Amino acid sequence: MDWGMKNRMSKIIRPEDGRCLMLAVDHGYFLGPTEGLEIPSRTIKPLLPYADSLMITRGILRTSVNPSIEVPIVLRVSGGTSIVGEDLSNETISTSIEEAIKLNASCLAISIFVGSKYEHQTLASLSRLVDEGEKYGIPVLAVTAVGKEMTRDSRYLALACRVAAEQGAHIVKTYYCENFESVVEGCPVPLIVAGGKKLPNEIDALKLTYEAIEHGATGVDMGRNIWQSTYAVAMIKSVRSIVHSNLDLRQASELYMKEKERQIKEQQKEMKAAG
Ligand code: R5P
Repeated sequence: MDWGMKNRMSKIIRPEDGRCLMLAVDHGYFLGPTEGLEIPSRTIKPLLPYADSLMITRGILRTSVNPSIEVPIVLRVSGGTSIVGEDLSNETISTSIEEAIKLNASCLAISIFVGSKYEHQTLASLSRLVDEGEKYGIPVLAVTAVGKEMTRDSRYLALACRVAAEQGAHIVKTYYCENFESVVEGCPVPLIVAGGKKLPNEIDALKLTYEAIEHGATGVDMGRNIWQSTYAVAMIKSVRSIVHSNLDLRQASELYMKEKERQIKEQQKEMKAAG
């Protein structure tokens, strides 16, 4: 691996412990102004101090993030479909490598839809992107997107993750599942897990984080389970404590409750001060 590639990888996966906490805020690229992310700048700002990296599209990066931030950028460069369109898997590369370089991206993110109608197209795009990334020393994160009709079991996810790694992806994002070890075992590059749809309560999302790390994930690429929580800062701090400080589920849950209380008190103080 070349110096530039190693350097960028070390910004995404922290060299101190080999773990990563990626904050995902790219959902609008197909979902529009999704709940919790209606005004991206408002959502992102308080969470940034606790994120190792920020996964985002160029549009929201340019309009909603201060360019003086130090948090490295994982630039989503695939798209071309929306939730109201015909087929979500019909994605293509939507942002050029020149744009990614201009935006000082530390990593490029692209979705692949293994087993879908557009499998070939998305895998060919991944390969092309890896070629470009290798040329300029920018790692590629392959996002294993699961269509509505696919089962998120270890057999399918192991297949999708391995296919991504074989095409040269430097990091693969997938979902946590039963028998997750077999997914990790079959994938020779770091695996990070998405949170997925908001779980009924915050402790469920902490449990998912804890189990994923316990079973070999390098970290998380988490969005909705953080910023759709009423106590988003408490949530990201608690996820971080599992990823980077090896807190177990009980300890992380206690931390969440403590941080939640603190946030409530702060909000009450602010309301009082505002009259
Ligand atoms: C889809 O929009 C993206 O790949 C997300 O960045 C990814 O699914 C992680 O976000 P969440 O934790 O909300 O699933």
